[in-house]
Amino acid sequence: MKVGIDAIAFYTPQHYVDMAELAVARGIEPEKFTLGLGQERMSIATPCEDTVHLAINASLKALRDFDIHPEDIGTLVVGTETGIDHSKPIAVYVHHALGLPDNCITYETKHACFGAMAAVTSVGDWIISGRAKGKKALIIAADIANYPVKSSAEPTQGAGAVAIVVSEDPNLCEFDRSIHGYFTKNVMDFWRPLYSKEAFADGHYSISCYLDALEKSKLDSGEKAPAITELAACLYHVPFVKMASKAHQKNFEVELGHAIEKGTPEFDQFKASFAEKTQPWLAFNSQVGNIYTASLFLSLINLLSSSELKAGETVSVFSYGSGCAASYSIFSLVEGYERWKAVIDPGSLLNERRKLSIAEYERVMSKRDEVIKESGVINPEDWDLTSNYLYIGNRNHIRQYSGLNIG
Ligand code: CAA
Repeated sequence: MKVGIDAIAFYTPQHYVDMAELAVARGIEPEKFTLGLGQERMSIATPCEDTVHLAINASLKALRDFDIHPEDIGTLVVGTETGIDHSKPIAVYVHHALGLPDNCITYETKHACFGAMAAVTSVGDWIISGRAKGKKALIIAADIANYPVKSSAEPTQGAGAVAIVVSEDPNLCEFDRSIHGYFTKNVMDFWRPLYSKEAFADGHYSISCYLDALEKSKLDSGEKAPAITELAACLYHVPFVKMASKAHQKNFEVELGHAIEKGTPEFDQFKASFAEKTQPWLAFNSQVGNIYTASLFLSLINLLSSSELKAGETVSVFSYGSGCAASYSIFSLVEGYERWKAVIDPGSLLNERRKLSIAEYERVMSKRDEVIKESGVINPEDWDLTSNYLYIGNRNHIRQYSGLNIG
């Protein structure tokens, strides 16, 4: 039985910050953010655009664009590290908004940026086991990356969601179930304590943890895993675009069995390989910023909506979640995937965002820190918003959303 990705869709908040302007405001050379990190813009979520809002809008788009009926969905999982409640999952709000069947399995997964990929793999196994009985699974990766204003991590924020439908006989790509590598280790590279809205990161250490996890999970994927030269594309978790370049270099070094130095022919080979197999699929990440669980899948969206690759060509997929857990797997493109390119392409959504001045961005950040407890209202008009399912405050400790009747 073939199992893989049947449908995919992206959604992001309606505002962004220009990275060069942010650098100037912080007294930093713009090239540090645009070239050093590889980021052009980052999406900024206003207080009304929480992860419930992002997840619902991405999944509605996936079902609508691929003509999937709510009754077809038998499992719904939201992978996130931006939960809105210690107990109640985002997934049940999505279940309500989409009108999914009441026998749908519904839950949330968390392991930093790995949560959604873990769910994608698990639902593949659910389908293979026969328990899906022909139904599909809807996985949503939804996150808001939030670091302190003026910190070194500030330029690696972002917000968005990718909805992924997994099924048998998929439209877009198929999982190679015989090749899969994993890695887990308890490290303190990035975390967000219960009392904090902002993440804590040991930035340079987190980069070395990511690269170590890539090496170990790739080695765990075994000898059947194709070499980089046999792959049409290599996709990675993208906390910032430059990280994907560091990852591809590490991938290369693991295959060579030694580190490569700048100025050597091996370094030139790595650069050419990166330019062919990874860089073309990073344009959307450079426009959106880090979206944690969804970053890897945004790179996949970039590939599916713009590549000239042929059916049957293979792609390596590396997921990393701080803390940490990682997986290395192989997908292949299926016959006819090209016909979905235009519907998947999020270009117009990205171009329609409105630019925030740095002063406006800082106001958003300060308001995002305000916690509404028992009751309170947020007015979407204060943020110039037009979309549906916006978070509009609390009533009797219950979160309220525009267009959802929640008690
Ligand atoms: N022109 C061009 N490049 C410049 C430059 C200039 N004027 N000034 C600096 N640079 C380059 C630097 O040389 C460096 O490039 P290399 O890494 O290739 O050497 C790059 O810009 C960044 O400079 P710094 O390393 O000095 O930047 P920093 O210390 O201020 O912070 C960071 C960078 C550590 C990524 C920080 O933003 C951070 O902590 N971010 C959050 C943590 C993170 O994203 N970690 C990624 C791995 S963990 C993970 O993937 C999970 C997750 O999603 C969080």
